[in-house]
Parts: sequence; structure tokens; C-alpha cells
Amino acid sequence: MNVSRPPMGWNSWNTFGSSISDELIVSTARAMKEKGYLDAGYEYVVIDDCWSLRERGADGHIVPDPVKFPRGMKAVADDVHALGFKFGMYSCAGVQTCGGYPASYDHEFTDAADFAAWGVDYLKYDFCNFPAAADGPNRYATMSMALKATGRDILFAACNWGTDESWKWMKSVGAHMYRSTGDIADNFQSFSGIAKSQLENFCMSGPYGFNDIDMLTVGMYGKGNVSLGKACDDREYYTQFALWCMLGAPLMLGGDVRNMRPFAEALLQNPRLIRIDQDEECRPPQIVYRGRVVHTDENGWKEYPDAGLTLFKRLSDNEFAVGYFNFADVSGEVPFIFADAGLPYQSGFGLHLTDAADGRDLGVHRDYFHTKLEGHESRVLIARLERV
Ligand code: GLA
Repeated sequence: MNVSRPPMGWNSWNTFGSSISDELIVSTARAMKEKGYLDAGYEYVVIDDCWSLRERGADGHIVPDPVKFPRGMKAVADDVHALGFKFGMYSCAGVQTCGGYPASYDHEFTDAADFAAWGVDYLKYDFCNFPAAADGPNRYATMSMALKATGRDILFAACNWGTDESWKWMKSVGAHMYRSTGDIADNFQSFSGIAKSQLENFCMSGPYGFNDIDMLTVGMYGKGNVSLGKACDDREYYTQFALWCMLGAPLMLGGDVRNMRPFAEALLQNPRLIRIDQDEECRPPQIVYRGRVVHTDENGWKEYPDAGLTLFKRLSDNEFAVGYFNFADVSGEVPFIFADAGLPYQSGFGLHLTDAADGRDLGVHRDYFHTKLEGHESRVLIARLERV
């Protein structure tokens, strides 16, 4: 199946947790269509954990919760499809899901056949309650096989949180995307730590097997199931979305898209940032600098180690993206000397820069372009080679 770009969509978990229903899923899909998310590329609508009864039926099949989903799953899938989306569901490689519902260990082929019959196009496959005596890679291979045996194209979104260094083998057992980190919480420390932990592993991420650093929290502002600690502000959400796009990670929305603040809605639909994420070459960024940020004020200067990050991503058509990140709590400058990305002064070329936030033309620069950032702030530029 064609998963040649990082998958984009929405998942119920971050905001709604177990409070899910037919009405929530269909109204979310409707809002995603009306508010422009579908046109921006978000095509999967995914129900996470807690959709079934606590026990399998006497026939061994998982039973959708008749209170949450009174029409059954096929009717929900049909409505989601009719709105132009693909439909996703959730199970787990262990004996129970993380929420304590029936999971697919030793039921892989039965459950996959049910998902296919309901019209599922995407399966998120979690890792709670996994038997110690069982083999993780083999069970992910088993579910991949079970999905193929259905004859339906189903995107396999593995989610073992990076266990056994999943980035080294998940693609080879059939996963189209693989969660490589623990769960995101809606705060700066959580998402920045998650992204930083995978920087070096993105060279193994690419078409048909993307490293997944979890669903976004952009736009949640402390409301929802994964709210913990100090909620993010606009500046921090920009940094989160910029990191995901610079890395070329899957973009699965976690906020309530029916009621987004205008800033978050515009950010999540920013065509320049999405274009960076979805570039056809799917190259991971070069890590140009990962190091200190120096903050200077009336009290002198102070160094913040491991707080600065400069990423340079080669796009198709001789375009590039430059990402500057300041993970410190205070302001500082994040550098970029073009020679460190292969463009020395002597080349006779400079970079014509555009700010990805608003499309503003920053002119042609030769040699270097450093950026002053507030604490937790980031900036993304699109660059084109130009003779100077
Ligand atoms: C795990 C996953 C989350 C979510 C929950 C559901 O924690 O990592 O993304 O699916 O389970 O219970």
C-alpha cells in the first residue's frame, strides 16, 4: 500500500481518552472537512483505545461498546468514508489494551478480519500487557501478516514506544509507521524531550516506514486526557509543530479540531510547514548544531548546554528548510553558518530565505544567518539557492 509520505490525520486519545463515541468521531470528521484539515492533507480519522466491551463475545470476537457505538463500527466507517476520510482503529499486541480492554495477542487473524470487514484503513497497534515469554518483533510480524491476509489495504501503525530499539526493525516486519517514544503530555518538557530523543534515528525513517514521535498536542492548551504540568502556549506549539515537520514525522492531530483557537488551526494548516513534512524526498534533517545557547542580559552572560538546535533539511527541487530551536527558558541566539551545510562563501551562491511562519521574504543571504529566539521559541525558514 502507498504510504510514501508521513501519514496525516487525527486520533481521539490525547483529548478524549476513553470518552469516545460515534457522535464524536463523525462530528470530528465533519469538522475536519469543513475547517480545511482534509484539504490540508489530514486524511485519517482514528479511534484509539476504549472502544469495545471489557470482554470478548462468546464467539471470540471483540464487541464494540453498544453505548459508545450503538450503530456498530461499520456505520461509523461508512460515514467517515463518505466525508472523504480514511478510517482508523486501535488494538494492542498484548492480552489487554493499555486501558484494560480485550487485545489481539493470539487473536490476530480474527481481529484483523473484523477490522477489514468494518472498513478499517489504519490500525494503531499498542504494546501493553504483552506476555514476557512472547517475542515482540514476531507478534508485530504476525499482525502485519494478519492484516495482509484480509486482502484490504490497512496502514499498520505499530506502537511499542521504542522497545527493543524499534526503529531498527519495525519497518522490516511490515509497520508503515512505528512509535519510538513513550506518551506525549501537553507540556514543553514532554514534547521537546520526545523529539530530541529521536533526532539521530530519523535516518532510518522514510517511505513505507516512518518514525512516529506520537500524536500532536497543538491546540489543547491544557484541556484533555494528556494534560500534565504547565500547558503549552502558542510559541511552544509552534516549536512542537516545527520539530515534527522538520523531522518528517507523521502528523496525527490530538486536539479537538471542532473547537480550535485560530492560532492553532492556522498553524496546523500552515502550507509551508506541511510541505516541509511531506516533501517527496522524505530526507531526515542534517543536525547542523546541537549545543549551547548563550543568554546575555544586564547581569552578564550564562550558558545553557544542549539547549540549541539547528536543523537543515534538503527538500526536492533544490529547496531547503532551516530550523532553529531554543530549548532554554531564556532568550539566546541560535546560529547557522552556511558552510556547515555545504555552502561556503567561495561558492558564489547564497540562500534566498522565506519565513515559514508567514511567508515573509527575508532576502538573499551569503555566508550565515543567525537567529535570536525567545525561550522555547523556534523559527523555520525555507531556503533557495541563488547566485550572488
Ligand atoms: C498507550 C499509547 C497511547 C494510547 C494509550 C491508550 O499509552 O502509547 O498512545 O494509545 O495507550 O490506552
